Order: sequence, then C-alpha cells, then structure tokens
Amino acid sequence: METPLKRLVLGITGGVAAYKAAELARLLVRNGIEVQVVMTAAATRFVGPATFQALTGRPVYTDAWDARTPQGMAHIELTRGTDAVLVAPASADFLARLAQGRADDLLASLCLARDCPLFVAPAMNRQMWLHPATQRNVAQLRADGVIVLGPAEGEQACGETGFGRLIEPPQLLDALDAHFRPKWLQGLHALVTAGPTYEAIDAVRGITNRSSGRMGYAMAHAALEAGARVTLVTGPTCLTPPAGARVVPVVSAQQMLEAVEAVVDTVDLFIAVAAVADYYVLNPSEMKIKKDAHILTLELAPNPDILANVASRPQPPFCVGFAAESENLEEYAELKRRRKHVPLMVANDAAEAIGSEETSLVLLDDEGAHRLPRADKLTQARRLVEHIARLYKAQTA
Ligand code: CTP
Repeated sequence: METPLKRLVLGITGGVAAYKAAELARLLVRNGIEVQVVMTAAATRFVGPATFQALTGRPVYTDAWDARTPQGMAHIELTRGTDAVLVAPASADFLARLAQGRADDLLASLCLARDCPLFVAPAMNRQMWLHPATQRNVAQLRADGVIVLGPAEGEQACGETGFGRLIEPPQLLDALDAHFRPKWLQGLHALVTAGPTYEAIDAVRGITNRSSGRMGYAMAHAALEAGARVTLVTGPTCLTPPAGARVVPVVSAQQMLEAVEAVVDTVDLFIAVAAVADYYVLNPSEMKIKKDAHILTLELAPNPDILANVASRPQPPFCVGFAAESENLEEYAELKRRRKHVPLMVANDAAEAIGSEETSLVLLDDEGAHRLPRADKLTQARRLVEHIARLYKAQTA
C-alpha cells in the first residue's frame, strides 16, 4: 500500500498485547514506513527490545537518560520530523500518566514534547477499561486532541470477554493511513450499495452473480477516509466492512431498494456499485423444490432499478453509477449514464473487474471520458473519490 504516512514513532507499554506490536511493527515497515520504537520498562518485560530492533532495523529506545541521539535529548529529537506517534498497546497506567501530562519516563516525556499527532490504542482487562478512572483519563485525552483507536471487543488473555482488546494491526495501519489522506468529502454523507443481490428460487437456491463486493467496499473505505459519513447497503459478501461505516445488510434487490429509500433523503452522494439482479423469481417456493423428470420453468419479473429511481427523485443526491459491460464499453456505459440521468458513470470491463482484485476504469461525465489505468480497487476508489468530490463541488458551487 502506498501511504502518506512516512515516519512513525511506535510507543509500546506494558501489557500482554505487546506481542501484537511486533506484528504491527513488521506491517508498518512492510508498507514503507520508517518506524522508531520506544518502549516503557514494563513493555520490555513482555517482549525484548531486540525483537523490535530486528523488525525495524533501528535501535530501540527505552531510557530517558539514553544519550545516543545527536544532541543527547531523545525525548525531543525522536519525534522531530516524524508524522505521528502511536502508542500500541497503551496500558491503563500509561493513559493515566498521559492524561496528567507526566514526564516520568522516555515515552511519556516524548508524548509531551511532540509536535505531531498522537494516537493511542488502549489494551487492558475489560474492568480496567470500564473503570471510571480510565474512562475519565480517556475523555481527558480526547479533549486534549489525542486520537483513541479502540479498544476492540472480544476474548481477552485473562479469559474474560469484553472491550479491552488491542485493535488488530491491519486496522491500526488503516486508521493511521486514513488520518493523513486528503479530506475530499469532509462533512458529506455518502450512501454506497455493494455486492451482488440474491433472488430466491426456493428455500435453498437462488439467482445471484459473481460480484465479490470488493469495489463497493473499497468505495466505502475511500469515502470514509476522505472524511464522509458512510452508509453501506450490502448484498451477501464474504468481506469485512470498513470500520466506521453504518452497514445495512440486505439480500434481494427489493430489500436493497427499501434500505436505500430509508436513508436517501439524508445523503449528499449516492454511489451505486452493487451488481443488482435484473430479475426476481415470481412465487419462489418456501420449500426446497424436489427434482423430477419434467422441465422446470421459472417465471422472472424485472427488479426495480435502484439507481434510476434515486436519480429521478425531485432533488436527487449526486449519483454515481457503475456499468460493467462485456462489449462496446464506453458507448454502452455512456448510454446508461444518459438513460439513468446520472452525472457520472464508471465503466469497467465485466470480465476484468467482476470478482477480481484489480481493474481499470473509465469515468464518463459531461466533460467526456477519463481513463484510470489498471490498479487495485482501493487505489481506484481513492482516485474516484477525488473525481466525485471535484464534480460535486462544481455542481453545488
Ligand atoms: N443498478 C441498480 N438497480 C438495478 C440495476 C442496476 O441500482 N436494478 C445500478 C447498478 O448498481 C449500477 C448501474 O445501475 O450502478 C448499472 O448497472 P448495470 O447492471 O450495468 O445496468 P443495467 O441497467 O442493469 O443494464 P444491463 O444489465 O442491461 O447492462
């Protein structure tokens, strides 16, 4: 992943989740980020500094009196020129010290002396997290501008279950990365449809398509990191929705239409990525249909066109459609754009795009065609979000 985050100080405090910080350090380095690790004394009881030194290729700092930096002032020098400080895991004790502005070890004084954003990812027993003292400290940190990531809910090392788990390393990287991306859609509400729909034939069978949902989820992800509030109406997929989206799971096209209509009045952007089944089965059987020797005839009726419905409202949100075509790509997609009355239609080759990790796109709008060369779907989604923001601003200016 290409990320705007280039340099990071990773602070590690004393907790079982410190072992996950090793995985995090590796992930950050693999994504081209220069990582400087600073550990508290308690953290070194869980994982040795040598592990982080090997993973990051840089010496690890643990001691406020360490004079290895050029001017011998590690607490100041280590954060100069860095994009952010992330403390993961952040223990209850560390949050308390941070909330009080203490400078009683290298990591705490470095946080106090920094001139860049500070992220903390708390990890602790669920009762420690819920304790009013911890909650008070976290509220104080938020008020001081610290960005708190998590904790997540689930099974804990102590055997209890609840909030207090460290957010997983890939999500931590996503959250950091998102912070540094341009906020093209700040203050806007985007509604995204994604995935296939499924039209039941009987209790166990149905008509669907090969859409994986990846492009729609990537659009939701890119809109979120661009500062939008996102509602994701999704057909059945195997994907994990991006953190922060309001997710409305649906099955059939009719359900997707209802879910869209329930929120469409409150949205600024409608991005229809779903591969909606064009037909549904009239009178699906509630029971599993038994095989017999006769020809089985299914009666299909057309589904509502969700995008066309939204675009023909008296005051529609800014509408974006996706057209998957297997021939005459730009011509058919442009016809679809005009027929559905949408300002922007994104054309892609059905064989290349559906179910795959990468795709090339052609953006069709009033100005003509804009070609986005083949790339992974999140990269394409980010380019698309920038284009949408430009058109949206021009339209509302
Ligand atoms: N779409 C929709 N509701 C439908 C069908 C399509 O909202 N019932 C939206 C899709 O989400 C996509 C766009 O319309 O943004 C184009 O979908 P596509 O299936 O390519 O177009 P169709 O109008 O169904 O045309 P065809 O299948 O004949 O190519």
